[in-house]
Amino acid sequence: MSITYNQENQVFSIQTANSSYQMKVSRHGHLLHLYYGKKISDEDVSWLIPNVVRSHESNPPEAQRDRVYSLCALPQEFSSNDAGDYRIPSLEVVNADGSYAFVGKYRSHKIYQGKYRLSLLPTLYAKEEENAETLEIILEDEITHVSVKLLYGVFYDRDVITRAVVLRNGADSPIYLKRIMSASLDFMEGNYDLIGFFGHHYFERQMDRRPLSHGISELGSFRGVSGHFHNPFAILCDRNAGEDSGSAYGFLLMYSGNFVFDAEVDGYSQTRVAMGIHPKQFDFFVDSGECFEAPEVVMAFSEQGFSKLSHCYHDIFRENACESRFVNEDRPIVINSWEPFRFDFDSEKLLKTAEISKKLGADMFVLDDGWFGARDDETAGLGDWVANEKKLPGGIEALAQKIHALGMQFGLWFEPEMVNEDSDLYRAHPDWCLRVPKRAPSRSRHQLCLDLSRPDVCEHLIEAVNSILDTGCVDYVKWDYNRYVCDVYSQYYAPEKQGEIYHRYILGLYRILDGIIKTHPDILFEGCSGGGGRFDGAMLTYFPQIWCSDNTDAPSRLTIQYGTSFAYPVISMGAHVSVCPNKKTGRSVPWKTRAVTAMHGTFGYELDPAKMSEEELAECAAYSDFYRRHRKLIRQGDYYRLSSPYDDSIFTAWQFVSKDKAESLVCVVTESISIMDKNSYVRLRGLEKEAFYEVAQTGKVHSGAALMNIGILLSDSQPQYSAFVYELKKV
Ligand code: GLA
Repeated sequence: MSITYNQENQVFSIQTANSSYQMKVSRHGHLLHLYYGKKISDEDVSWLIPNVVRSHESNPPEAQRDRVYSLCALPQEFSSNDAGDYRIPSLEVVNADGSYAFVGKYRSHKIYQGKYRLSLLPTLYAKEEENAETLEIILEDEITHVSVKLLYGVFYDRDVITRAVVLRNGADSPIYLKRIMSASLDFMEGNYDLIGFFGHHYFERQMDRRPLSHGISELGSFRGVSGHFHNPFAILCDRNAGEDSGSAYGFLLMYSGNFVFDAEVDGYSQTRVAMGIHPKQFDFFVDSGECFEAPEVVMAFSEQGFSKLSHCYHDIFRENACESRFVNEDRPIVINSWEPFRFDFDSEKLLKTAEISKKLGADMFVLDDGWFGARDDETAGLGDWVANEKKLPGGIEALAQKIHALGMQFGLWFEPEMVNEDSDLYRAHPDWCLRVPKRAPSRSRHQLCLDLSRPDVCEHLIEAVNSILDTGCVDYVKWDYNRYVCDVYSQYYAPEKQGEIYHRYILGLYRILDGIIKTHPDILFEGCSGGGGRFDGAMLTYFPQIWCSDNTDAPSRLTIQYGTSFAYPVISMGAHVSVCPNKKTGRSVPWKTRAVTAMHGTFGYELDPAKMSEEELAECAAYSDFYRRHRKLIRQGDYYRLSSPYDDSIFTAWQFVSKDKAESLVCVVTESISIMDKNSYVRLRGLEKEAFYEVAQTGKVHSGAALMNIGILLSDSQPQYSAFVYELKKV
């Protein structure tokens, strides 16, 4: 049993293989959060709460003369509002009488086998054979009868606990929901670092570590998407935590829209963290008897630093997120038309490219933007998902047939959520996009955002995309989304419902993805949003892989892929080899460096093979073969960051180790020229100490202990941005 309830002291204990979590119903019915961290027994640890009077603080009426009982000094599991706890609240509602008060008191609970699901939002799921349990606790406000069902999903072996909340309006009148955090956690002390992953288009998920200090630190997105700017993933850790030491907590929101992660250190140096939908412009009407679901947070704890924490997330996202069969299959090596051709192509050019790209070892040809409507540049055509017969006589089916006849698979790009004003769709339905009445909408990349809060728009998009996919000629879809949202107003809803649109958009998106992806189990879907603008856990329940960044420059990819790897498995990152000088950065690095860097994910090409020499084609074909040989290990193995691209280390290195530790692949890119002046060793990780491994590239055999404690000597004199790989096999 991973979840127990001790009736006598009203303590809930959750155990995973290496962590414990504890809550207790207080003598006045508040649910206290007592503990989350290293493994302890189920004993009641409420003694950790100091028995001191906090002067000036309020005491709830039921505490009567007890000055010690203050909500602001007690660790809360789901905090109250306007009742004397001044830290960031879990919930803010406006009740029918205009008051903001909410005080949740324990009502009941349920424990059952298996993992809960939400009805409108994506969540992790448990397989039947897995050791997963659910705890539901209901807290209710005794006066208003607004209640919250706190959901806990426990994956014992994976050291993961998920949380979600379902609010129910049990009052006779409607309420307005202004803020609902999916998870909030109180720590009695505060001496943590906060790690977030910030960035922008072309520069996603850069690691940012800062010591928490008094006040509120906030990460979040208000762009309508989880976004390039901050990722909905944060780590709270010991000040000295590193890759393999120190305690680290991960918080990951399964949501693709606006989000917030707050960490507050109060005047008593207590720390509260809270994560959920961003409360800005969020104002949800919940009628009497209705419910509202808040998205899931995936929490993991590691007492052995970040590698262990990442392994928890990698394993759970590989096994318990996406139900597509492709999750467990080797992914095709794709060649994509975007970087080489943009909008300038016709069938003949595409077929020639597909034909030559076989020499590169590509398995699949992907036709990117520009194949539909009047789409000759960024200003027109979005929304018209019908093939442009001038470029593609006979349409998509005819082209797909010819690609298939070459022995290659065929993939196609869509950006269903967007529309150009210069499109048949917009001309027919100008009211189908988000825009504020009487104001001209802001364009981005000359496009407007369709109003996915409208059921009619969702149904249209499902039908439009499915009409192409139902022909059965498409093997892969790249699903793009290329702007942030603003002018958030839906003509479909009444003025007082406009605070719901951001969230309703995301519900509409999931509805569409369900209607398209789940009805095409034999198509591999890749997510994309101007590269990695919507790289989040909820997307990974639909897309086994996501295009990691529009920046294909290998040295830039080192930090992007490094940051992404803290939460997301390497196999979920789309990574391609492109031409040099790189179109974005102007930098030139050898083919090998580009290929080794692109093997940090689902490998592919983004170039015109007709412009490559026979030698270059042969060199790249060898990299494709190399990837093909190792793609199972890359997909399934444990991943280790061997060095940080932010340190002044002279190289960035990473390693894959098979679960049985019998084989390993080590990849290194030198970042400075001092490899020629300074002896450099790449220390490996995750091997069996006593076992011996043969390193194919040196022909030498070393013990796991020597490889991990001394390392592999980088001895070639090679310039900056050279790449090395080492294949290890246990002998
Ligand atoms: C986005 C994607 C690119 C490409 C273009 C096409 O920027 O990230 O890979 O598909 O759109 O317009």
